[in-house]
Amino acid sequence: MDVTFRRLTDDDLSMLHRWLNEPGVMRWWEGDDVSWEGVVRDYGSGNGDPTEHWLASIDGDDVGWIQCYLAADSPEESAQWWALGVQATAAGIDYLVGEPARRGRGVGSAMIRAFVEDVVFGLHPGWSQACAAPYAANVASWRALERAGFRFVGIVEDEDGPCRLMVADRPAGGRNLAAGVDSGDRRS
Ligand SMILES: CC(C)(COP(=O)(O)OP(=O)(O)OC[C@H]1O[C@@H](n2cnc3c(N)ncnc32)[C@H](O)[C@@H]1OP(=O)(O)O)[C@@H](O)C(=O)NCCC(=O)NCCS
Repeated sequence: MDVTFRRLTDDDLSMLHRWLNEPGVMRWWEGDDVSWEGVVRDYGSGNGDPTEHWLASIDGDDVGWIQCYLAADSPEESAQWWALGVQATAAGIDYLVGEPARRGRGVGSAMIRAFVEDVVFGLHPGWSQACAAPYAANVASWRALERAGFRFVGIVEDEDGPCRLMVADRPAGGRNLAAGVDSGDRRS
């Protein structure tokens, strides 16, 4: 499965808004404002947050959204990560497969694996690990991470329940800029 990535633009926000309001996604986005105004505020170009938002495509079809950020930039979320041995130069990722019919067919694990290689490590030489902490109840999510090469390092508590902290290390001698990425001209 060949997954490619491009940066999310404001033209993609209506699709992302639809995805975030799909029941299979909403149940895991509890507490987030996924109204149109909320999506524009949190994912639009006017958001000054350094988090990178990307779209994943397979054979020209947009299949999912995935973001990455330096974990240290999200101190509230990552506070419990450090005690479990996560490195100060780790990145966090979050993701979804947009169309319900696409889920459960290997797309999520392929997207995560390719993103970690091509974007997280491929475009950020200083980032040493990739981390995600899905709810323990979100079996598809942590299983997809396992299939993408992540390992379980411990439970972190969220106000809505326990989460499984999963970590992937930068492979020794890994390549840098990957072929499947349109990084745009926004990056120096
Ligand atoms: C989580 C998500 C990205 C996983 O992607 P996916 O394409 O559905 O997952 P895959 O097909 O790659 O499957 C990955 C693993 O999960 C398992 N799995 C998939 N759907 C499952 C389900 N509903 N229940 C239990 N296990 C499931 C698969 O069997 C596979 O594990 P295995 O190979 O060890 O058997 C996708 O389901 C999704 O977008 N869900 C809604 C949004 C979300 O939960 N995002 C993550 C928030 S942390």
